[in-house]
Amino acid sequence: MTQKNVTMFGGKGGVGKTTCAGATALHYANEGLNTLIISTDPTPSLFDIFEMNDHNKPAKVTNNLHLAELGTEEVKEMWNNKFGHEVYEVFSSMVSIEYDEFVDFITSILPGLQEEFMVNYIRELALSGTYDRIVWDTAPLGQTMHLINMPEMLRNHLKPAPKIYSRLKLGSISKRSILKVLEDWSEISAQDMQFLKQDVQFTMVTIPEALAVHQLDGIFAEFATHDFKFSQIIINNIIETNDSDFLRTKREQQQGYIKRIHSICDGMQVIEVPLFPHEIKGLQGVAEISKVLFR
Ligand SMILES: Nc1ncnc2c1ncn2[C@@H]1O[C@H](COP(=O)(O)OP(=O)(O)OP(=O)(O)O)[C@@H](O)[C@H]1O
Ligand SMILES: [Mg+2]
Repeated sequence: MTQKNVTMFGGKGGVGKTTCAGATALHYANEGLNTLIISTDPTPSLFDIFEMNDHNKPAKVTNNLHLAELGTEEVKEMWNNKFGHEVYEVFSSMVSIEYDEFVDFITSILPGLQEEFMVNYIRELALSGTYDRIVWDTAPLGQTMHLINMPEMLRNHLKPAPKIYSRLKLGSISKRSILKVLEDWSEISAQDMQFLKQDVQFTMVTIPEALAVHQLDGIFAEFATHDFKFSQIIINNIIETNDSDFLRTKREQQQGYIKRIHSICDGMQVIEVPLFPHEIKGLQGVAEISKVLFR
C-alpha cells in the first residue's frame, strides 16, 4: 500500500481513522517490519482499540508492533530541550512568570507550535531509524489543517519579531541571541515541512455521507494550495447487505456518495471498507480491517 516509511491518517471525527491506522500498522508488523503506531490526538483511543493495559512508552502491542501517544507532556519536553530556557530567560527578565506558565503561554500564543513540535518529533523518530514503519493517527481534521498551514502561520507571526527583540536591551542573558533562536526555529520549521512533503504518505479516511463528502472538496483544495496531496482514500462503513427496507435505502444513498468520492479522487488509490455488524476491537478485530485494506 505504501512506499514511504511514514503514513498519516486524517479525516473527519469518528470516521474510522484510528481503526484504519491500527489495521495498517498491524499489517506491517505481521509482515515482519518493526512498526510504531503513534497518535497525536489529544483524546487518543489506540489503547482502547487494541484493548491494552500496558502503558509503557512505547507500549508493546504484539510482535514488531509498538504504540505511543504524543501528548502535551512530550511536546513540552521537546520545547524544553530545543528552546525553552533560552527564550524563557529573555522573557522572565521582562515579566515575572513561572516557567511552566510561560511554556503554556507560549504554546498557546504561537499558532501551530504544538503541531510544529509534533511533526518535528515524528521526523526525528523517522530519522533515528528505530522503526521500519511509522503509522501516524491524527485528531479530527483541524489538526491536519494546522499542520499544513503551520509554517506560514509561524512565519507571519515571527515577521515582526526581530524588530521587537532587537530593541530590547538584554545584554547577554542567553547563550544564543534571541534572533539566532528565531532563525533556528524557522529552519526547523522548513525542515519539518519538507519532511511532510517528501517522507509522509497522506491517507484520508471518509464515510459515504453528505457532510463527509462535502468536506473532501474543501480539504483537497486546501491541500493543493500548499502543494500537498493525499495518495490514498479509504471509504469506510460501507453497507453491503440490503436485506431490509432500511438497509436498502441506506445502501442506495451510500452508493451515490461512493460514486461521487471516486469521481473527486481521480488519481488516488481508493479502498472501500464494509461496515461490520460489530465494533472493531482487539487484535482480531483490527486484523479483519487489515485483511480488507491489503486485499
Ligand atoms: N468498518 C467498520 N465497521 C464497524 N465499526 C467500525 C468500522 N470502522 C470503525 N468502526 C467503529 O467506529 C468507531 C469509531 O472508529 P475510530 O475510533 O477508528 O474513528 P476515528 O475517526 O479515529 O474517531 P476520532 O475522530 O474520535 O478519533 C469505533 O467504535 C470503531 O470500532
Ligand atoms: Mg481516532
